[in-house]
Amino acid sequence: MCGIVGYIGRQKAAPLILEGLKRLEYRGYDSAGVAVLENGRFSVAKRIGRVANLEKDGATQRLAGTAGMGHTRWATHGGVTDANAHPHLSSDGTIALIHNGVIENYAQIKAFLIDKGYTFKSETDTEVLCNLIAYHHAKEPAGHNGDSRFVESVRKTLRHAEGTYGIVVMALDAPGELVTARKGSPLIIGLGDGESLVASDVAAIVSRTQNVVYLKDGEIAHLTAKNLAITTLGAGAVEPVIDKVTWSIADAELGTFSHFMEKEIFEQPAALENAMRGRFSEDGSTANFGGLNITAGEFRGIERFMFCACGTALHAAMVTEHMIERFARMPVECDYASEFRYRNSPLFRNTLFFVMSQSGETIDTLAALREAKRKGYKVLAVNNVVGSTIAREADGGIYQHVGPEVGVASTKAFTSQLLIGAMLALYIGRMRDLSFGEGVRFVEALKSAPGLARIALEQAAHIREIAKRFAHYTDMLFLGRLSLFPIALEGALKLKEISYIHAEGYPAAEMKHGPIALISEKCPSVFLVPSGEMLNKIISSMQEIKARKGPIIAIVTASVELPAGLADETIVVPEAHEAVLPIIMSIPVQLLSYYIAVERGCDVDKPRNLAKSVTVE
Ligand code: G6P
Repeated sequence: MCGIVGYIGRQKAAPLILEGLKRLEYRGYDSAGVAVLENGRFSVAKRIGRVANLEKDGATQRLAGTAGMGHTRWATHGGVTDANAHPHLSSDGTIALIHNGVIENYAQIKAFLIDKGYTFKSETDTEVLCNLIAYHHAKEPAGHNGDSRFVESVRKTLRHAEGTYGIVVMALDAPGELVTARKGSPLIIGLGDGESLVASDVAAIVSRTQNVVYLKDGEIAHLTAKNLAITTLGAGAVEPVIDKVTWSIADAELGTFSHFMEKEIFEQPAALENAMRGRFSEDGSTANFGGLNITAGEFRGIERFMFCACGTALHAAMVTEHMIERFARMPVECDYASEFRYRNSPLFRNTLFFVMSQSGETIDTLAALREAKRKGYKVLAVNNVVGSTIAREADGGIYQHVGPEVGVASTKAFTSQLLIGAMLALYIGRMRDLSFGEGVRFVEALKSAPGLARIALEQAAHIREIAKRFAHYTDMLFLGRLSLFPIALEGALKLKEISYIHAEGYPAAEMKHGPIALISEKCPSVFLVPSGEMLNKIISSMQEIKARKGPIIAIVTASVELPAGLADETIVVPEAHEAVLPIIMSIPVQLLSYYIAVERGCDVDKPRNLAKSVTVE
């Protein structure tokens, strides 16, 4: 949600901020804006639409100051208008602010400020925060605790603010300073050579520096070009911990690909290698995880597992449920994080919680984690973004190690979650009934996943042709069974997200209890058809569709032979071990959605109304 970039140093701030904003555009793209402080005044350029629109604007070209900040917006309060775009200025012109999050008590604060003579140009909660800082700043005597007056006015404001925020603030009378603070929205500080940066994502600053400080909830950072001081809302001093970012700018660039989604689909063999590197035992019969922070003995005492996640990550959790139940013979429950947090479901003793989240910032997933911890449960996280809030608040976890995922539609993060889920099933299974030999075969199967993914990707050109023939449909069904049912859900989600075609995922046999009513020559079905014991059942479901003239795309494994004429289109992927099959089946499903969206002329990496990480409720 919303991208934030701030810069203070020796260079012209605006071009660096625009560059950073472009890298963050996947976070929100309703509108964009930049403010710099120059010649004793704030110069602001903002407009609805993409960062590219703003960049073309002559106003940004003229911004010459060396301290500034920028924002890409994903609207929460107030429509998409130039006035509602950030940065906002206080009505007395002394404070400029950008904000990610939602201020829940903005109406009361606004009434208070109107009474004090402050005026408002926008409908946003952000402008309210900005004016409240200006109010405190105007009244604030010289600070205490070594803080400047500027930091103190932000602190006072935030003590009154209910809700979530990641903010960057500039004050007219503090030209060499930025103040930034967070509660519930991520912020990362970059410490460069004679310059400091702040951003909502590492991607915006990694071209300037790899030395970063992850700001925590309730912390306020005071930045100059050469200094960083962190204090808490309660005014206690915090010693900054400097981390090194391990990936480089090339990881966040398109290279020869047309879209990040395409790049990330094709990166999957390498991503799978990275996710499992160094994670198998020396005897090759089980998985090892370094950061679980739970002993094997504790693990053996666990009697059931609960997984919470949102969106694509929930589908990965559902496949993991199947794997743990199948290979470790232990009960697993999966829930939407947004439901779990309010459902107050009765929980069993000896339950181990897992949350899955690519970004580690999804607010509902974070809330589910906190709710489980509040009830006294240990919570582990499967997460891609190092240093994310979920990674920090979890008791332990497993990093996905697949590098930055930029496309809003998750691909490589999803398949790496599937892989880690399978590795977890192996790890738990080996503590229970899975024999040494079965463990060795399982490990070998997991190691084959990158190679099999490469073979599945060879179908890209064929799938592109199929996409051309199917791009005009308005409805589609995705059907699969057992561990492939969540892949059917994921296929439908992918298609909806990026091509705006209405799609539903269903267990193949359940289709006859409702969705079959939709079937006609106008509603195609995508069937996931592996070899094995369910094959004849799935063929029967396909025949039911065919009898009603529904077009069929069948994604089959290599040894499957379908009755002649049953499928209109067939995509063949290699045979794979049960634990790897969902990964391999995901690839054609992703490619199909991608090429259909391209065919329809959709903005694949920035689908309407969506954001990569949803940090508001
Ligand atoms: C958003 C994204 C989805 C993603 C979901 C969960 O809705 O658009 O693609 O699956 O959030 O994100 P997370 O970062 O928690 O995996």
